[in-house]
Amino acid sequence: MSGSLAGRTALVTGGSRGIGRAIALAFAREGADVAICHNGDPRAGDTLSELRQTGAKALALEADVSTETDVVALFAKIAKNLGTLDIAVANAGILREAPLLETSAADFDAVISVNLRGAFLTAREAARMMLARPVTAPAGRIITISSDLAFLGREEMSAYCASKGGIVSLTRSLARELAPKILVNAIAPGPVETDMTSPQSMSPEALAKDLATPLARFAEPSEIAALAVFLAGDGASFVTGQCYGANGGSAMY
Ligand SMILES: NC(=O)c1ccc[n+]([C@@H]2O[C@H](COP(=O)([O-])OP(=O)(O)OC[C@H]3O[C@@H](n4cnc5c(N)ncnc54)[C@H](O)[C@@H]3O)[C@@H](O)[C@H]2O)c1
Repeated sequence: MSGSLAGRTALVTGGSRGIGRAIALAFAREGADVAICHNGDPRAGDTLSELRQTGAKALALEADVSTETDVVALFAKIAKNLGTLDIAVANAGILREAPLLETSAADFDAVISVNLRGAFLTAREAARMMLARPVTAPAGRIITISSDLAFLGREEMSAYCASKGGIVSLTRSLARELAPKILVNAIAPGPVETDMTSPQSMSPEALAKDLATPLARFAEPSEIAALAVFLAGDGASFVTGQCYGANGGSAMY
């Protein structure tokens, strides 16, 4: 590791496991101090230990990203413990699969609330902290996590795909509004082996769809984290408003 994020502070929502954990660990290994948040995941303690083993200052905080008061309180705790915030990754998300005719309005709202409203609240409070930094601070970075399914669509995942499409539009608008002080980009992963999605838990039909890509495999969470490290670092200083596919070629933009 090169220490490319030395001296930076970062928040990764949904950082207790899966893609968020990999991003938090990759940031810490690059020298950043890292806060993770989760919604009561028992694995948060293990991830916090791993983060601290890198030598980073690390925090694990419980917050529901869809609840405004939780998100405001989360950022107050980050300000108190880390002092400032340079990088925020709005990663927390949920997936609910159901045919359209069996999707209640409450199911739809639940997915939109965590995935899209959560990204909005995280980005808003992150921007508030980043804009309060000294003018000499490097440009803040907000990274959102969309999905290749925002572009491809997927049957029985309408709420999820809508939430992830909304994240792309949110990212583009924030990139325009927050420039040049904050750079805002999205990562749109393809299938990644995590609790949310794993080959073992899928029907043969669903698995076949996820494997019908040029690379024909699931990603490791670390393969998504590598892109987040790039977007958070100095090498991405002229990159904003973009949505990067780390998807094995499932969708080509
Ligand atoms: N796994 C994939 O194949 C895949 C593909 C594309 C995009 N994504 C996206 O990547 C992100 C991470 O997914 P993952 O596969 O690591 O999932 P995961 O289920 O392994 O982890 C989800 C994380 O989000 C947190 N979380 C969930 N609801 C929350 C809430 N209301 N408030 C705060 N935290 C909450 C959990 O505590 C956990 O830390 C999600 O946004 C997901 O939609 C995943």
